[in-house]
Amino acid sequence: MQDPQTQFRSAFSDAIVAAFGDQYADADPLIQSSRNPEFGDYQANVAMSLAKKVGDNPRNVATKIVENLDLGDWGEKLQIAGPGFINIHLKLNYLVSQLVEVAGDEHLGLEQIGKDQKVVIDYSGPNVAKEMHVGHLRSSVIGDSLARVMDFLGYQVIRQNHLGDWGTQFGMLIENLIDEGAVASTHIADLKTFYQGAKQRFDDEPEFADRARKRVVALQGGDEQTLELWSKLIEESKLHFNHAYKLLGVQLTDDDIRAESFYNDQLPGVIQALEDAGQLQESQGAKVVYPQGFKDADGNPFPMIVLKSDGGFLYATTDLAALRYRINELKVNRIIYVTDSRQTQHFAMIFKTFEQSNWIPQGVKLDHVAFGTVLGNDRKPFKTRSGDTVKLIDLMDEAVVRALNAIAQKSDDLSEDQQKNIAQVVGIGSLKYADLSSDRIKDYVFDWDRMLSLEGNTAPYLINAYVRIQSIFRKGEMNPANVDATKIKLNDDAEKSLALRLLQFSGAVRAAESSLEPHRLCTYLYELSSSFHRFYEQCPVLKGDVLPEVRDSRLALSALVARTLKAGLNLLGIDVVERM
Ligand code: ARG
Repeated sequence: MQDPQTQFRSAFSDAIVAAFGDQYADADPLIQSSRNPEFGDYQANVAMSLAKKVGDNPRNVATKIVENLDLGDWGEKLQIAGPGFINIHLKLNYLVSQLVEVAGDEHLGLEQIGKDQKVVIDYSGPNVAKEMHVGHLRSSVIGDSLARVMDFLGYQVIRQNHLGDWGTQFGMLIENLIDEGAVASTHIADLKTFYQGAKQRFDDEPEFADRARKRVVALQGGDEQTLELWSKLIEESKLHFNHAYKLLGVQLTDDDIRAESFYNDQLPGVIQALEDAGQLQESQGAKVVYPQGFKDADGNPFPMIVLKSDGGFLYATTDLAALRYRINELKVNRIIYVTDSRQTQHFAMIFKTFEQSNWIPQGVKLDHVAFGTVLGNDRKPFKTRSGDTVKLIDLMDEAVVRALNAIAQKSDDLSEDQQKNIAQVVGIGSLKYADLSSDRIKDYVFDWDRMLSLEGNTAPYLINAYVRIQSIFRKGEMNPANVDATKIKLNDDAEKSLALRLLQFSGAVRAAESSLEPHRLCTYLYELSSSFHRFYEQCPVLKGDVLPEVRDSRLALSALVARTLKAGLNLLGIDVVERM
């Protein structure tokens, strides 16, 4: 089905062409929902932007558009207001028929626009033998949400976890493992201490540093015992990562891992391919590529090193190999990388290198989904009191404890077990939602009180709206699955605005997909919950004096809100609870 906004957008486009000619076929009708129901349900603001181009005043332009507009089965009437706003009033029975269609569709009215398209989403990418930190939270939850959204839209999604499992640091880690012998595995369980211990020794003990360097050579040379120890580090780290993914509800499994080492034997081929493409140059003994448009501080071409003078490969070389693999072997149409914005230049250089090597087949799209930093109250990168990076595991634990405290204070009719389960969902959901709901590219301030609040654009507020609906059905001893959407009537203002809101779901999901910004979906779900709360206050559902047909209509509306909230939260990777 086509959502309402798409329907009248195309009607407006047709009218613009009919009034002013084909050259305006691409003019955006600039349709947005009206803030005030008096001014219609939606408004089209295109007349103002078109006026100059067609050489007429906006009101005349609006009049011509209206004269040429086919109201189809959706439009009740149009009004021109102010300088040339076109107010759109929709037919109530059109809204109801749309709701019926949405209710009858497993995808809540979303077209499967991703059919026949394959997309790689590269996200999370923690580093072996290092504890996951708050930065990995962002990549994991944003990437996971984008994967869920694209899944829902019918794309074939290939999740790729580009684990950092290779590099010179493994020399010192393996030597440390050997020295610690039997106690090592307990130490790796505390990855941070293990890593820091190895690093300390590398800096302080020349003899150790020397062994570490030799160990790197052995690792690169494929020495069997070294590889065995290296695998041990990876296995231990994977336990840690998988535990975090499970708690966090992130859909990554071992099958999604394509670690850096996976590309090792493709690296010489990448260098050769760059050479063949005429891109390889020499600079101070190293092999480099000059992606066009990149300059250093002095304005000189800025190189991307792909092979060091000592023969070592780099992070960039591996990413070149990974991208070749994804394009040539996985044969995907789109590749999306989710990392913090400090890697923006890295990916821009990789993409440019591909472009100037003519390695991007037609129809293949590359995106870097960058995000900002998580800040503390002092507006500096979020740290523990002692100045350490914050471990992701500790954050999750604290979120659940805080949620449990809040729940225990309010709901004394729930058993301890119930409270714990709810706290798990609400705590983790709040942590993820706080991250997802803030403008992706910006930094955000980490604030426990705000993210766990029952008011505002928070997970608890949204989950609470869902819980309220479940409780209506429990009280009425009815099953939300048995409502009949054809019974919906929109007599009250609050019912109508709730209906309009419900029909914006597909637009919100599409916006999150096209901009790769999950916060757009969050904003929508927040607005939907607010509309529901207003409806709930104004429109009693179960009260004795409510007519049966009105009750059935309101139950059907409520059930659709609950379904939409649950589906929307699921696209963010957040669960709901039935009571709270
Ligand atoms: N391991 C990297 C980090 O922690 C992230 C990997 C991102 N993916 C990629 N293909 N480079 O920053």
